Amino acid sequence: MNFTVIAIIAGLGGLLFGYDTGVISGALLFIRHVFHLGPAMQGVVVAIALGAAAVGAAVAGTLSDKFGRRPVLLVTAAVFVLGALLSAAAWSVAILLAGRVLVGGAIGVASMLTPLYLSEMSPRDKRGAVVTINQAYITIGIVVSYGVGYLFSHGGDGWRWMLALGALPGVILFAGMLVLPESPRWLAGKGHREAARKSLAFLRGGHDVESELRDLRQDLAREGRATAPWSVLLEPRARMPLIVGIGLAVFQQITGINTVIYFAPTIFQKAGLSSASVSILATAGVGLVNVVMTFVAMRLLDSAGRRRLLLVGLSGMLVTLLAVAGGFMAGMQGGLAWVTVISVAAYVAFFAIGLGPVFWLLIAEIFPLAVRGRGMSLATIANWAFNMLVSITFLDLVHGLGRGPTFLIYAAMTLITLVFTWFLVPETKGRSLEQIEAALEGEGRLA
Ligand code: GLC
Repeated sequence: MNFTVIAIIAGLGGLLFGYDTGVISGALLFIRHVFHLGPAMQGVVVAIALGAAAVGAAVAGTLSDKFGRRPVLLVTAAVFVLGALLSAAAWSVAILLAGRVLVGGAIGVASMLTPLYLSEMSPRDKRGAVVTINQAYITIGIVVSYGVGYLFSHGGDGWRWMLALGALPGVILFAGMLVLPESPRWLAGKGHREAARKSLAFLRGGHDVESELRDLRQDLAREGRATAPWSVLLEPRARMPLIVGIGLAVFQQITGINTVIYFAPTIFQKAGLSSASVSILATAGVGLVNVVMTFVAMRLLDSAGRRRLLLVGLSGMLVTLLAVAGGFMAGMQGGLAWVTVISVAAYVAFFAIGLGPVFWLLIAEIFPLAVRGRGMSLATIANWAFNMLVSITFLDLVHGLGRGPTFLIYAAMTLITLVFTWFLVPETKGRSLEQIEAALEGEGRLA
């Protein structure tokens, strides 16, 4: 099978992530009437899935280090389908919440396991692009969810269709994972040499895999085992990866991206766009910008490098966030409201070529193999926890401080992220996972 096809199947977990985090805002407009939900309960319907995602990310690392990446992805796909159907069929609030917990947990697992599995299967010179398939799917999932939300927005049971359609990528992922092999790196780590060779040969379509296998073995000879205790994460060689991984996880969220992804129509209406339908259209436009720029990042990550894209992206986010804040403070209306809309779109574009994909890529690259699953889990838990925090505080912040100052806070966070990246984030482009590990172990950092 062609490697591109393999990676396109393996990345499908990202579609679940994007679709389901995006679809709920549209569905909620109807759900709240059907079940008579007040604002607090609506918040619970949204946040419970984000909380469950943090829990899913927490268990995914240990489970996938122990049982392998493939079986865990298979079970995750099944849970996802179950959760989507259960919440779509919900006849009571309790059932709805149960469905949301299942879906959320599955998203959490997929959010760390998809980039992990992709990174472990890719050749080093393409790893940036391959792992970023995950982020590309996330952005596509978000746009599709906006579209589906719009199509089924005419009342009735439309919301049930919105939630049920989420089962579809789950079914495809399940079928796809039946065909794909276990991660060769995980297999080699468990001592299954022959199986590792077979998996790699399948992934490389029959090309010579000897030198790649040699790299892997050298790494394992140094490590001794594929799964080490959690305490390895506290050793000096894991210190840098932990600081960078968790730091970027938090920064990716507190620089405000999901305020736009989840609340764009509200933001645009407040910016002065005349009608709801124009706001929805502007939202779709921003979603498309997100997709297109993620594909641009995919092309550049392995040539320009992760660090450079991150620095460029963050600088752009800083400038555009200041423009958004300024626009709100100046109270632009009518034609000028579009200045704010364009600034928001540019902010999303800069996120999409830097912080969006680079976070998910780096956490799949920088942890030692023995604790890769668990290190990624920690970073992913932090990402979901702060995703939840930003989502539940945004409307209150806007209410309490005003829109301008709220976006100024995100701008200040972006400035801090820029300094953090400048001093601490290593370049990993063009090195094998084993070389990255060796360098981090020797010097504590990558030159
Ligand atoms: C990243 C973030 C996610 C966000 C998405 C937007 O994947 O982790 O929270 O919704 O980008 O494109």
